Amino acid sequence: MDRRELVTEAAKARSRAYAPYSSFAVGAALLGKSGRVYHGCNVENASYGATICAERVALTKAVSEGETEFQAIAVVCDTAEPVPPCGICRQVLAEFSPRMEVIMATLRGECETTRLDVLYPNAFGTANLGGGDN
Ligand code: THU
Repeated sequence: MDRRELVTEAAKARSRAYAPYSSFAVGAALLGKSGRVYHGCNVENASYGATICAERVALTKAVSEGETEFQAIAVVCDTAEPVPPCGICRQVLAEFSPRMEVIMATLRGECETTRLDVLYPNAFGTANLGGGDN
């Protein structure tokens, strides 16, 4: 699965977005170490704070299927410039593969690639939990 194909998969996932409140549809395709691809779209809710981003939908699908290590994630929006994952999604993705590739693309063909630890350095992690009274 090359990076261009992963973007195509994210665009397909985007077509299933449930975004009646923001009208901002997002698609994600997460490539596991196994080579399997997990699709995600944003799923909004009338209680706005219950909305789940496309990236976390893909991630939770993957983990619930037993895959916990990832090569890359592609995120697709219909914007002028590529859109990076939000802070909550960065933290949740970093739990599993802090160095995964992040490919941000638009429907009109703009594309940027970086790594999660560049977008999100010094993630809070399990090492930060040790040593206290908690
Ligand atoms: N959204 C995502 O799905 N991923 C992101 O990284 C940014 C935001 C969704 C959440 C909400 O449904 C809509 O985009 C507007 O914020």
